[in-house]
Order: sequence, then C-alpha cells, then structure tokens
Amino acid sequence: MSDLDVVILAAGKGTRMHSDIPKVLHPLAGRPMLDHVISVARALAARRIVVVYGHGGEAVRDRTGADDIEFVCQEPQLGTGHAVQQALPVLDSDTTLVLYGDVPLIRAGTLGRLLATRAELALLTMELPDPHGYGRIIRNRAGRVTQIVEEKDATAKQRSINEINTGLLAASTSRLKQWLARIENKNAQGEYYLTDIVAEAVRDSVEITTATPDNEFEVLGVNSKAQLARLERIYQWENAQKLLQQGVSVIDPARIDVRGTLNCGRDVTIDVNCVFEGDVVLGDRVSIGANCVINQTHIGPDSEVLPFCHIEDAMTGSACRIGPYARLRPGNRLANEVRVGNFVEMKASRIGDGSKANHLSYIGDSSVGNNVNIGAGTITCNYDGANKHRTIIEDDVFIGSDTQLVAPVTIGAGSTIGAGSTITKDTPDGELTISRSKQITIPGWKRPVKSKRK
Ligand code: UD1
Ligand code: CA
Repeated sequence: MSDLDVVILAAGKGTRMHSDIPKVLHPLAGRPMLDHVISVARALAARRIVVVYGHGGEAVRDRTGADDIEFVCQEPQLGTGHAVQQALPVLDSDTTLVLYGDVPLIRAGTLGRLLATRAELALLTMELPDPHGYGRIIRNRAGRVTQIVEEKDATAKQRSINEINTGLLAASTSRLKQWLARIENKNAQGEYYLTDIVAEAVRDSVEITTATPDNEFEVLGVNSKAQLARLERIYQWENAQKLLQQGVSVIDPARIDVRGTLNCGRDVTIDVNCVFEGDVVLGDRVSIGANCVINQTHIGPDSEVLPFCHIEDAMTGSACRIGPYARLRPGNRLANEVRVGNFVEMKASRIGDGSKANHLSYIGDSSVGNNVNIGAGTITCNYDGANKHRTIIEDDVFIGSDTQLVAPVTIGAGSTIGAGSTITKDTPDGELTISRSKQITIPGWKRPVKSKRK
C-alpha cells in the first residue's frame, strides 16, 4: 500500500449550478462527479480518502459514503487553504494529494506521474492558450516555481502567463501542516489560499516540481450545467473510443451514452442514440439497434435488439430477437431463440427456448415453456386489484390472438387456446380450449339511421 492520503475538496457552494443539489453530487455518466474522483483515489491505493464537504452537504455523506471514506465538514468556507486545514488532523501518511470534487475526469496515470516526482511539493500545471480565470505559475530565471498568483491578485504582466495552476497538488504531509499554519488571507478575495503554500515552500528552500496532465480535459472543472454537459460529452467520447479500440462497432461515437459499465464480446454492433445504464454485458455478435435504453442487462450471443427497445434487469440466452419497440421491465429471463416483438411488455417472466410473443402483448409474472407461440394482443391478467398471481404456460402451447389469461392459471402442455378467449381456469394438455360466445348472424338486421331534427 502506498503511503498516501488523498484530500478531495468538495465544499464549494456551486452557486452557478442553480440547483438545490450539492455541486459534486451532480451526475456525470450516471454517477456523482465526486464518485469519479473517489474512484481515482482508490486506484492510487490511497491509505486515507478524506472528503471536505460544506454546510448542508450531509447529502454528500449520504450519497457517497463508504467504509474507506472519511468526511470532514468545512463551515464556513474560507478558501482552498482553509479547506485542506480542516482535513489536517486526520492526515498521517508521508504524502498528501489534493484533488477537487468538481474536477471529475482526472486520471490515475497523470496523478501517478505527479507523485512519481517524489518532491516535497509537486504541482499539476498546464499551458493553456486562454489562461483566464486560473491561478498563474510564476517561475524565476532558472525556471523554478516561486509563486502562484490568482487571476484577481495578478498584475497585467502576470496575467499574460499561459502556465496555469490546475489546483491539484501533492505535498509532504508534515511540510503541508507547517505551511498551512503560516498562510494568511490578505488577498483580493479575503480567502486562505492553498496556493500560498508555494511561497512558503520557497521560503523553506524546498524544491517545487511540476507535472502536466496527459489531456486538458482531465483538469477541467465544473461550475455550471454547461460545463458539466461538456465534460459528459468528453467522457462519453473517450469511452466510445475505448469501445472502438476493443473492436466494438459503435456506429457513431458521438451518439452513445454509457452510464455504468458496458462489456462487449467480439463483433458487437451498437447503432446510434443508445443509452446503457448499470452493468450491461453484450455477448459475441450482438447487435443493438438505434435508440435503445438498456439497463443492468445481459444479452446473450447472436442476439439482436431492434430499434426503440427499453430493457431493464433482463438476461437473455443466445440468438434472441427483441423489438422493435419492446419493453422488458425488470426480472425477465429469456432462454435461447426467444422472440419478443413490437409493443410487447414483459415483466418478471421466464420464457423458454424458441418461444415467441411477436405483437402487442403484456406478459407479467409468467413462466412460459419452450416453443410456445403467444398470439397478438394476448394479456396475462396478473393483478386482481390487490395481489399479483402467476401464469404458467407449458411447452408447445399455442395461444390465439386477443386472449386474456386470468391468473393464477396454468395452460397445459401442447394445448391450444382459441382466439378471443378469456381463460379463467386451468386448461388440459393437448386440447383446444375456447371461451367465447358462438358467432351468430341476425338475418335482415338494419343499421340504425339518424333521426331527423324536429
Ligand atoms: C483554484 C486555485 C487556482 C486554480 C483553480 C483551478 C486557489 C486559491 N486557487 O481557484 O489557482 O487555477 O482552482 O480550478 O486554490 N473549495 C472548498 N472550500 C473552499 C473553497 C473551495 O472546498 O473554501 C473547493 C471547491 O469546491 C472546488 C475547489 O476547492 O472543488 C476549488 O475551489 P474554487 O473556488 O473553484 O477555486 P478557484 O478560485 O477556481
Ligand atoms: Ca474553480
């Protein structure tokens, strides 16, 4: 285990988000921004992960709390230096790394390089064409860092410097404690600046090293919904590139959203505008049509999901065909070569090998055997207004169109149900069961005519 503590600053108010939700809880790729930063800290095998949260941020604790996270409240918020001060009492590793809860795309590789400098103070800095708003890195003739000047405190000449402070830094924990004890708030914002430890380090003749992130997006912060949306697209684009590199045919990498993990086999194709949530697994040769939302689902090999399907917590075997316009609500288990067609809703049902419900049906709380054909418009009436009941359809059953199966009910193996039936009692194996009034013709019947107005 590395001798590293990570402090994540997350007490900022986030006024510009115009939201009642603490800024760091706003979701990026389906999980709080802060979660992404915590994941990076874990990837670095930090000994302690300390989150500094602000007043009213109890939600932050509730939402991101885990056994390996410590929380420290900063109230009031008197600046980044003050924020780190709040965490000092719990820090005891050799090195402390400071991350921001609103800089969610930082990568462990970049931080690894920052830590590898092994300096008593290492800053993550970057040259930006437009450095506006950031603290500037001041270096002496020898190129050594001597100071960080905030935009608001900078002279015109200092503002022309393009090297900016990303805000992320690593420091010797014991030095950090000494330096933070000495900083003051005599600046334009009346805040205790973490960046002022640089001048203190210089005073102590400590050499300051710098590292640069691999990508600019890693150090972009979120202060507004627009910036969050921008980072979301960057995250999704990068993730799509990873999928493409693995051999997944992502038809348009700008039109896919993965809000969780997506594991794909070989020769998988994903058409445009699909959203994947939770843990989704797509087997070899699976193809997903345009505009599908797939949540916490495992799709077996050679299966095809046609456009406009919504699938939640499902598991399918191989060579299934789902959609277009199918809705699989949670808890469906499809075996192999199952067909679920357009406008079919299924919930908590097991469907056996080769069975089909191709059109306009509701199948809920059902066990369907192998080689069953469920005709168009079939409905399992699983709810009596108070309780749910199961429908059992055994192997090789044929259900005629527009049939209601009033649960609890069992349709015997090999039986046939005539179209338009309302089935309320179990049906015998191998027989035809029909429940409908006989067709009659009324001779000479005339359609009514419209009566004349008086
Ligand atoms: C800070 C840096 C600046 C750098 C910039 C990069 C200082 C003084 N300045 O400026 O050099 O270029 O980040 O984005 O450090 N926070 C708290 N408690 C506080 C204040 C802030 O937890 O009292 C947290 C915020 O939630 C945020 C982070 O610290 O995650 C940075 O705060 P912010 O106000 O955005 O700092 P900047 O003024 O932008
Ligand atoms: Ca900022």
